[in-house]
Amino acid sequence: MGFWERYPDIYKGLSSVETKLRQEARSRNATIESILLRLVNAGGKRLRPALVLLCGGYGGVEQNKLVPMAAAVEMVHMATLVHDDVIDDADYRRGIETTHRKWDNHTAIFAGDYMLSKAFGMLTRYTEYKDASMIAKTFKFICEGEIEQYFTRNRINISVRKYLTRIRYKTAMLFSMSCYLGASSADISIAEKRALAMYGMHMGMAFQIKDDLLDFQSTGHALGKPVINDVRQGVYTLPVIYALNDNRVGKRLEGMLQDEEKRAEMLEEIAGLVVDSGAVEKSVYLQQKYLNKAKKAAAALKPNTYSKAMQELLLYTADRTK
Ligand code: IPE
Ligand code: IPE
Ligand code: MG
Ligand code: MG
Repeated sequence: MGFWERYPDIYKGLSSVETKLRQEARSRNATIESILLRLVNAGGKRLRPALVLLCGGYGGVEQNKLVPMAAAVEMVHMATLVHDDVIDDADYRRGIETTHRKWDNHTAIFAGDYMLSKAFGMLTRYTEYKDASMIAKTFKFICEGEIEQYFTRNRINISVRKYLTRIRYKTAMLFSMSCYLGASSADISIAEKRALAMYGMHMGMAFQIKDDLLDFQSTGHALGKPVINDVRQGVYTLPVIYALNDNRVGKRLEGMLQDEEKRAEMLEEIAGLVVDSGAVEKSVYLQQKYLNKAKKAAAALKPNTYSKAMQELLLYTADRTK
């Protein structure tokens, strides 16, 4: 949340989001309550709620009116993380053991479903009826992105285009929805609302590309979640796709990826090969393209503190280390 210290009303809004999330974590079921509280207390970047506050703020909506909606999108996000960690067999997240590791898969599936229902309830309470179908579609898109990823795992012939569609669905749509919902009730033009939604979409694309890069660039300790885990799971993201298409290392990499047992033993070598192929630089280039698109969308807005923060947030997203 360090980034927001320079933007006092967003900073304040985000601490109210924490309070709201803790309230919403209460449940009749003690296990569910402790799962939710534990997830909330483990922190996270709170980027999606920040986008609600930022875009609503741009439109002149009062921050305290935006807080419940901001908490709701974080609840959606956390629900997807709990399920994603079951699918990705990840041992830790946000620096602590994942729900399915601390409890079990069944409990994690229940908790994720519960959180999604909870989030849906919050969204119906705090958003307008006209936005309901967009919200439902976003939920569906996230599932479709994750489903497509699961069913194409281990496939070494994924195209960049397919990858981009996948990350648009699983990640960028929720970013875009967060921006749009924040601004939905604001008294601004349709063109501005569209620009905000596009800002979120492009930023979400850049964000997921960076997340996929961090799998190769960072450490589990720094990230609070496992690294090289996508390859381990047979999920081949942008850097791997580029490396597979590289004349020098492509064939060797293919051989290493195809035998599941060998792959598990050779994760470090595989990561090294990907990095040596220049795939990181190529991925950074595509990430930058999306950042530029987001920058352009934000540049079409009125200049004020919020649109300035939107521009700065892009730089933070580009260089983040977690
Ligand atoms: C992780 O999202 C899942 C992706 C879409 C890459 P974040 O990186 O925003 O996770 P937290 O909320 O900070 O833990
Ligand atoms: C997850 O993508 C995106 C979701 C919509 C949950 P990842 O699988 O790359 O996210 P991390 O790396 O586990 O956070
Ligand atoms: Mg994952
Ligand atoms: Mg990831």
